[in-house]
Amino acid sequence: MIKPHGHDASEGDVNSSEARLRYREDMIERSKARRLLSRDSEAFLHQSLSTPCLNAVISARGSRLVDADGRGLLDFHGNSAHQVGYGHPAVISAITRQMEELPFCPRRYTNEPAVRLAEELVRVTGGELGKVLLMPGGALAVGAAMKLARVATGRFKFLSMWGSFHGASLDAISVGGESVFRTGMGPLLPGCHLVHPCAPSSCQHGCGGPCSGRGARAIEDVLAREGDIAALIAEPIRCTTIEVPPRDYWARVRDACRRNGTLLIFDEIPIALGRTGRFFAYEHFGVVPDILVIGKGLGGGIIPQAAMLARADLDVAGHTALGHYTHEKSPVGSAAALATLGVIAEERLVERSAMLGAAWMTQLREALGSCGVLREVRGLGLLVGVELDAGSPARTGRLCDETLYQSLRRGLSFKVSDSRVLTLTPPLTVTREELCEATGILAEAVDAALGVVS
Ligand SMILES: Cc1ncc(COP(=O)(O)O)c(C=O)c1O
Repeated sequence: MIKPHGHDASEGDVNSSEARLRYREDMIERSKARRLLSRDSEAFLHQSLSTPCLNAVISARGSRLVDADGRGLLDFHGNSAHQVGYGHPAVISAITRQMEELPFCPRRYTNEPAVRLAEELVRVTGGELGKVLLMPGGALAVGAAMKLARVATGRFKFLSMWGSFHGASLDAISVGGESVFRTGMGPLLPGCHLVHPCAPSSCQHGCGGPCSGRGARAIEDVLAREGDIAALIAEPIRCTTIEVPPRDYWARVRDACRRNGTLLIFDEIPIALGRTGRFFAYEHFGVVPDILVIGKGLGGGIIPQAAMLARADLDVAGHTALGHYTHEKSPVGSAAALATLGVIAEERLVERSAMLGAAWMTQLREALGSCGVLREVRGLGLLVGVELDAGSPARTGRLCDETLYQSLRRGLSFKVSDSRVLTLTPPLTVTREELCEATGILAEAVDAALGVVS
């Protein structure tokens, strides 16, 4: 397995680094969370990206979490599920009403909110993706998309990207490219091929300088050589390292898929719903996929809710089951999603994301420009990456990790990706003042981290 940055990089923060241990000693050993953390550790199976947990929270509202000691934290991580912020009153009231009216829908029946949600999702694609399946989680939507691709093409192979993440289930890790999820898991699905993504800041294709299209050519080669790949599955913009391919990249890939009878599946689970300053990220590239999966923030950051959308002519699996999950047409999940779509439209969050994101990136460049370790601030809308470079991958990794924990001490949470990028995904409802506060914390945290990291 190729590790994307030559060392132990991963999608999330692992729970064993030195910076984390220092943070634990200073911030947690005497905190009110300590007893709950130790009960958590006793009760739950341990796994590398969660238990043992870092801390405990007691409240989530708007852009902020509150930890067990009452400390506020701007949450610019949110597992990419909080486009409308935490606890949006419109979402809470829609869920509450729905729970009173119709809390559950057995599979044999349909219900008004689920049908309305499917209709609304088709509408926001401009009708290009005309059929929907609702799903209780993102990985399940990815699995359903893979099944549909197999049924529709009569083929079984997939092409996906190194470094990608499409969920933690066995089918999803078969097309995922992160070693922490695959190592030791035994045989994965057969026929899954991986290529390096188009990643302008860390190109593995040897384009050198501006993109010379080698990433697209690598995909064209594999599709043509294999000749029987059912689908290519990818995030149009990787949500972690925030690599934005050149505008013509996806158009080339789209063409290659068409020529080879391969379906194009876009996974926009963390980045749809306005995150990038467009409702769907694919709109930046003028390319519509054959199948789209969305989730996370669709449930308003409250209810698990995902969906697979497909071209209407891909409605070809009536004889088999793509999903059939117990909570598939959840009235409460659908009410949460409808309210979320309503908030995004009423509060003009897509436009807001584009506008605030552009201004914030300028501010971040100014605030961090003199720290001596800033490589790049990049992104689209409120999907923002701050890439650091401290001279070597190992030192950069330690610096990013320390910066995260220095930020947490000061009240800002985010994610570190590939041990080199600070991934910042605030709610789209974030205020300008909160963005300024985050910029100040980050600048201080990088300074403090430079004082700790040798
Ligand atoms: C790109 C991507 N796809 C799929 C998933 C899986 O979604 P879920 O956690 O709802 O199964 C994630 C979750 O982080 C993701 O980031």
